[in-house]
Amino acid sequence: MANKVVIITGGSSGIGKALAFEFGKNGYSVVITGRNPQNLSQAEKELQDFKIKAKGIVCDSASEEDTRAMIQEVVDLFGGIDVLVNNAGISMRSMFEDVQMEVLKQVMDINFWGTVYATQAALPYIKNRKGGIIGISSIAGYRGLPVRSGYSASKFAMNGFLEALRTELIGTGVHVLTACPGFTASNIRNASLNSAGKITGETMREEDKMMSAEEVALEIFQAYLKKKKTLILTFQGKLTVFLNKWLNGILDQMVYNTLKKEKDSPLK
Ligand SMILES: NC(=O)c1ccc[n+]([C@@H]2O[C@H](COP(=O)([O-])OP(=O)(O)OC[C@H]3O[C@@H](n4cnc5c(N)ncnc54)[C@H](OP(=O)(O)O)[C@@H]3O)[C@@H](O)[C@H]2O)c1
Repeated sequence: MANKVVIITGGSSGIGKALAFEFGKNGYSVVITGRNPQNLSQAEKELQDFKIKAKGIVCDSASEEDTRAMIQEVVDLFGGIDVLVNNAGISMRSMFEDVQMEVLKQVMDINFWGTVYATQAALPYIKNRKGGIIGISSIAGYRGLPVRSGYSASKFAMNGFLEALRTELIGTGVHVLTACPGFTASNIRNASLNSAGKITGETMREEDKMMSAEEVALEIFQAYLKKKKTLILTFQGKLTVFLNKWLNGILDQMVYNTLKKEKDSPLK
C-alpha cells in the first residue's frame, strides 16, 4: 500500500483524525483538511511524529472552489487519489421553529454539499485507481432527530447521494461505503450551532459513555477493506435503525424521550 493516497476532509479532530491514523498506520499517505490552520498543523505534526506521511491542506468543505483547488493540489503533490473520506461535518441544536435559516444552510453546505463537491472533483482520479469513496454519515441519516432537523436532513441527503452514486458506479471498480456512527466522543457537540448560529461551546451528552473516535475509525477502515456498502455502529444505533423500519409507530415517542433527556434540551 506504500503509494496509496487518502484524503480525509475534516481530519484535524475526532473521527477524521482517528481515520488519518488508521489509514496512515496501514501505509497510506494521508491528506487531511479543515478550516482552522493551527488545529490542522497540530494534527499533521502528530501524524508525522508517528512516521505517517501526512499533509494538511486548509480547505473549507462548503466552498466548491476551495475543494476543487485542494483536490488539484493533492494530485499535483501525490500523483493521484485512491480514497476520499467525506468526513468534515458540523451539527446544530435548535427547535426548527426557532432556528435561523442560515444555520440550516451552513450545516447543509458543509455536510452535504461538501461531500458532493469533493466527490465530483476526486472521482476521475479515484476511478483511475479503482479506489473508494467513504461518506461519514450518521444514525441521524436513517432516523430524523428532533432539535437536529438540519443535521438529520444533511445526513439523509448524504445517504441518498451515496446510494445513488454507488449504484451508478457499478462496473467501474470504485467502492462506495456509507458509514453511520452512533454517538461518538468528539468535539462535534461543542462545535454545534445554536438557533442563532453561535457555537454551543459545550456538550449536552456524556462523552465518556460513547464509543471512542479510534474505535469508530477502526470499524470504518475494516468495513472499507471488506468492501461493505454500509456500516451502522453502536447497539443503540443498530436498534434505532431496526425499530425505525419495523416498529416505526413507537419510535417517535422513544426518540423524543431520549433527546429530551439531554442537558438543557429545548424539548419541553
Ligand atoms: N461524534 C458523533 O457523535 C458523530 C456521530 C455520527 C456521525 N458523526 C459524523 O462524523 C464526522 C466527524 O465528526 P466528529 O464527531 O469527529 O466531529 P469533530 O471532532 O468536531 O471534527 C470535525 C472535523 O471537521 C472539520 N470541519 C468542520 N467544518 C468544516 C468545513 N467547513 N470544512 C472543512 N472541515 C470542516 C473540523 O475542523 P475545522 O473546524 O477546523 O474546520 C474537524 O476537523 C461528521 O461528519 C459527523 O457528522 C459524528
